[in-house]
Amino acid sequence: TARQEIDLKHYIRHIPDFPKPGILFYDISTLMRNPDAWQMAMGRLARQVAPFKPDILAAVESRGFLTAAPLADRLGCGMLMLRKRGKLPGKTVSHTYDLEYGSDTLEIQHDAVQPGQRVVIMDDLLATGGTLAASATLLQKAGADVVAASVLVELTGLGGRARLGDIPVTTLLSYDE
Ligand code: PRP
Ligand code: MG
Repeated sequence: TARQEIDLKHYIRHIPDFPKPGILFYDISTLMRNPDAWQMAMGRLARQVAPFKPDILAAVESRGFLTAAPLADRLGCGMLMLRKRGKLPGKTVSHTYDLEYGSDTLEIQHDAVQPGQRVVIMDDLLATGGTLAASATLLQKAGADVVAASVLVELTGLGGRARLGDIPVTTLLSYDE
């Protein structure tokens, strides 16, 4: 159908020099605010992620929350949060990692996953891969079987995919620039 021909790249806005000079920001706000484009994106994402048969989706704060929640609902699986430092109650496991711009710490609750549960990590964008790699490390420490990571946008020139090792990464849109 015509809707399946929608080029979702048309809905990603590029904002230069944000959040720092020299960084080109890939803004998904313009995708999310268009109902047809967002629904199309979530449908395509669901078709990419479903074959990995996740038990639970791991949502990376904050923009990973935006894709994980609709996907968990579509796929009928659970979801958990990987949050920035100090946000989660109870016993947590943390990991500090480098970003494309700066560094950050992610945490999960120590009992976030059951041993052997199949987990797919959800985020909006893959740049250096530091965020996804830290997320995978945390989840594996907790006993998860990290079967894939899923993003809307991959910046292929930064080589972030390699930081995930053997974990497959699916993406809706790739940019080599
Ligand atoms: C951005 C983006 C990814 C990550 C990608 O998150 O949403 O999570 O950076 O970069 P990387 O591959 O180099 O790790 P950010 O930490 O800016 O925070 P936000 O999601 O809360 O906006
Ligand atoms: Mg993020």
